Amino acid sequence: FEDSISASKAVAKEIAALIRVKQAQKQPCILGLATGSSPKSLYAELVRLHKEEGLSFKNVITFNLDEYYPMDPNSVNSYVRFMKELLLDKVDILKENYHIPDGTLTKAEIAEYCNDYEAKIEALGGLDLQILGIGGNGHIGFNESGSLQNSKTRLVALDHITRVAASKDFLGLGNTPRTAITLGVKKIMEAKRVILMAWGEGKSNIVRTSVEGEVTNQVPASFLQEHNNAVFILDKEASSKLT
Ligand code: F6R
Repeated sequence: FEDSISASKAVAKEIAALIRVKQAQKQPCILGLATGSSPKSLYAELVRLHKEEGLSFKNVITFNLDEYYPMDPNSVNSYVRFMKELLLDKVDILKENYHIPDGTLTKAEIAEYCNDYEAKIEALGGLDLQILGIGGNGHIGFNESGSLQNSKTRLVALDHITRVAASKDFLGLGNTPRTAITLGVKKIMEAKRVILMAWGEGKSNIVRTSVEGEVTNQVPASFLQEHNNAVFILDKEASSKLT
């Protein structure tokens, strides 16, 4: 796409069409959602479609990819707050229908919580569509380099490069969380459709490595080469290194 705005509108259009098809079938629409800067324009367009074009989210059930750990949901840096401010509080999704990993659990509670998170997705028949961004190291969700293709939802240690990228939001590396809860690669790969969005020159090298390089757990986004319905949605700059 020429730019991230037109690209995001195209993704929003696909999501709206999916929601409406599922509505017509009286089925829930199960969406996997991401945070970070990449999906901001997508969520703005979905909110516009809700407010101006009558798109209802009453049949939508969402599961976010990740949350920092530990994290107070009311913190300015929480992904709960991000999702509520940019999308969830601005559309008519039912409160019981959105899920974001809980950053307030005790360590002892995390494993069971993660199993339940996956079980909920499975009970609904899996994710109809997973939205992804990509980290500078090729992470998807917070599945950092070294994550296995069959990895489960779990507590992970964040890579230094991920923490450096996040540190401006946390006003310094010292305040930036070292761990997070992330949906595992397996559930992402099981989604019926995957849309990875990346914008800007800064993503161009990792986009090329992920799309044209070998499939390797050093670059978890490269696993998407083996997904039968995954697409990278890019602006001109992010796609500029593709051969
Ligand atoms: C966020 C997430 C991360 C981001 C990635 C890119 O929920 O799972 O993988 O998608 O770090 O972040 P941005 O879009 O800020 O460049």
